[in-house]
Amino acid sequence: MSESLFSLEGKVALVTGGSRGIGLSTARRLLKRGASVVLTARKLEGLEAARLELAEAGFDRVAVHAAHSSSESGMREAFSVALERFSGMDIVVNNAATNPSMDSLAEIDLALFDKIMDTNLRGYLVVAREGIRRMRELGGGGVIINISTIAACKAMRGLGAYGISKAAVNSLTRTLAAELAAEKIRVNGVAPGLVRTRLSEALWKDEKTAEDMLKAIPLNRIAEPGDIAGAVAFLASEAAAYITGQTLVVDGGMLAG
Ligand SMILES: NC(=O)c1ccc[n+]([C@@H]2O[C@H](COP(=O)([O-])OP(=O)(O)OC[C@H]3O[C@@H](n4cnc5c(N)ncnc54)[C@H](OP(=O)(O)O)[C@@H]3O)[C@@H](O)[C@H]2O)c1
Repeated sequence: MSESLFSLEGKVALVTGGSRGIGLSTARRLLKRGASVVLTARKLEGLEAARLELAEAGFDRVAVHAAHSSSESGMREAFSVALERFSGMDIVVNNAATNPSMDSLAEIDLALFDKIMDTNLRGYLVVAREGIRRMRELGGGGVIINISTIAACKAMRGLGAYGISKAAVNSLTRTLAAELAAEKIRVNGVAPGLVRTRLSEALWKDEKTAEDMLKAIPLNRIAEPGDIAGAVAFLASEAAAYITGQTLVVDGGMLAG
């Protein structure tokens, strides 16, 4: 397979939750492959720090926009920034998510349950819809990638609401893929296992907990954000031209056992 099939030269991407962790690493990978990138997150200072870090690495085709991912107007503005700065919209990475509760489903505070659904599910739908509108206005075609989790595929105690939200995201991926295939918009997901980021600190920062987690990971290491970014860049590229409606598990073998 020719190397150029993996190129993203001339493409325009929007990555939600792009100020740190998997989102920032994904942005770096898309930029390396030749794309221009708009990063979104709630806090502008985090986005500005990310932009500076990318500029220091030699990437200047980066714009940022602060918005909650479930805000229709906020996300509409973010896609307008992409159009104004880079004149396109080819790749949407739905990545911003949250997990503010480790309680069992029997005990979970319903306000926290609603917050998880608002960001992780409604937010993904809002971002996908705004992205689809822009792709249609620009003549059709594009790629949407929804970051999921293996907690959507397997019961994980303390991650119940989060797992439910991402199981719904997997369904969103399948349905959008079926609805949009005729318009040449591919929709796929990536389901990471344990990745070393702020979101999952409770599972790897403490040495004993990390040791216990490693026992469940056949590749015997916790993923770095770059491990996930590679899968996203692949799915965004022409090398994945015949893949749609799938969620690719990237978990070091955790689900395989
Ligand atoms: N880390 C893991 O082990 C792991 C495993 C499986 C799946 N994942 C998935 O990977 C994705 C990225 O997670 P991560 O680990 O990189 O998390 P992270 O380091 O906590 O980063 C989360 C990013 O999302 C932004 N964000 C959070 N809530 C937002 C909202 N409502 N609207 C807009 N932006 C928001 C944050 O910036 P602000 O705070 O400024 O908004 C930040 O940029 C998530 O979908 C997560 O479910 C992670």
